[in-house]
Amino acid sequence: MPSAVSVLDRERALAWYRLNRERSRGLFDLLADEAYYSRPIALRHPIVFYEGHLPAFSFNTLIKKGLGRPSIDPALEALFARGIDPNETRDTLGDQPQQASDRARWPSRDIVHQFAAEADRQILDALARGEVEQAGHPLLDRAEAVFAILEHEAMHQETLLYMWHRLPVEQKRRPAAYAPRVEGRVPAPEWIEVPSGVATLGVDRASIPFGWDNEFPAYHADVGRFHIERDDVTNARFLEFVDAGGYDNPRWWRPADWSWIRSEGVTHPLFWERRDDRWHWRGMFELIPLPPAWPVYVSQAEAAAFARWRDARLPTEAEFQRAAYGDGGAVLSEPRPGVFDFTSWDPEPAGSHPEGASAWGIQDLVGNGWEWTSTPFAPFPGFEASASYPEYSADFFDGEHFVMKGASPATARQLLRPTFRNWFRARYPYVYATFRCARDLA
Ligand code: AVJ
Ligand code: FE
Repeated sequence: MPSAVSVLDRERALAWYRLNRERSRGLFDLLADEAYYSRPIALRHPIVFYEGHLPAFSFNTLIKKGLGRPSIDPALEALFARGIDPNETRDTLGDQPQQASDRARWPSRDIVHQFAAEADRQILDALARGEVEQAGHPLLDRAEAVFAILEHEAMHQETLLYMWHRLPVEQKRRPAAYAPRVEGRVPAPEWIEVPSGVATLGVDRASIPFGWDNEFPAYHADVGRFHIERDDVTNARFLEFVDAGGYDNPRWWRPADWSWIRSEGVTHPLFWERRDDRWHWRGMFELIPLPPAWPVYVSQAEAAAFARWRDARLPTEAEFQRAAYGDGGAVLSEPRPGVFDFTSWDPEPAGSHPEGASAWGIQDLVGNGWEWTSTPFAPFPGFEASASYPEYSADFFDGEHFVMKGASPATARQLLRPTFRNWFRARYPYVYATFRCARDLA
């Protein structure tokens, strides 16, 4: 249904686009030049791709598809159009060291910068005075393509950071004032009862200015009462699982997850490293003696194994919504205090922002690490792919991806609306994702 009400505020869109571009530039500036063609995560593209992808996606979506204007450089627009899915089946490029032939696929950094400058110029011009909001237009009704490009860049800033995380610290320039916040008490495990009621998972397209296709339409679920942990599982608690031989016992693991830890030789969380016979955390800019109170970052496979060992399970997406928002979750409001929006390059101790607890007193649901759920990523009834980016969600409704909710330190505040859904494969260990346990209540 075409919309009569204007949702676009040009000044805000321009300010957000500029903020995004400055922040992205700042992230690329953190890296030594030698990292530019490297591929810190084997199944993702090299870093050069992302510097081209951000402006190319914005240009392709808003200027070419939306406004129907001509190309700047069709070859670059195609090269930089899409990233690849974090796929656990290793493709032929997989684990091999950087090949000369691979380097040759990518243009020089100057070429990337020239393309980006021209794309930025045209996008800023369109945001300032183009017909970017057109009622009834598939991409421009309610200025959908404008929000899509803004949120897309903000999301990729997190992707960039978890890629940067894997680079050797010698290849990163540490911001002068930065010191990770490691001091904090490990919260004692505490179960909180959430009473039965309705969870709000999806909203109607017309009721918020923008959402991705997977957030629509309105969708509610009845949720029985359940127990959920007040805090995220910390490194200290996860260490008990590691020390108890959790990675050696198939009993805790789903069969495909067990095959994965065996074939890859996984014996501990990817963010942990053993040095001088002690556990450390691989921080963004330094190796830190394992901070016991930080939420552990793990794959969904490892989270599920820990939960099973604790005679518990992961919460469902609907349970997360109940725990975080009660019956609400459709209305936009200022996010509660928490660790998000790039205020830190690493986590903070669990429960550091009690003012941000949910109405039930549950800590850090939004911030300090995405929260794994047991829910496979799937469309809500009545799903329709968005015209501005039809593959955005639909390509991942395959039963292999699981919903993550909340936010991490590297999630932009604009993405914190309650219906926002993130997803990754169960055995993807790179993301800033933690978990807490849930249990049935008879
Ligand atoms: C929604 C974070 C899973 O990074 O794979 C960026 C976002 N999609 N460009 C991803 C995305 C296309 C996506 N996630
Ligand atoms: Fe992308």
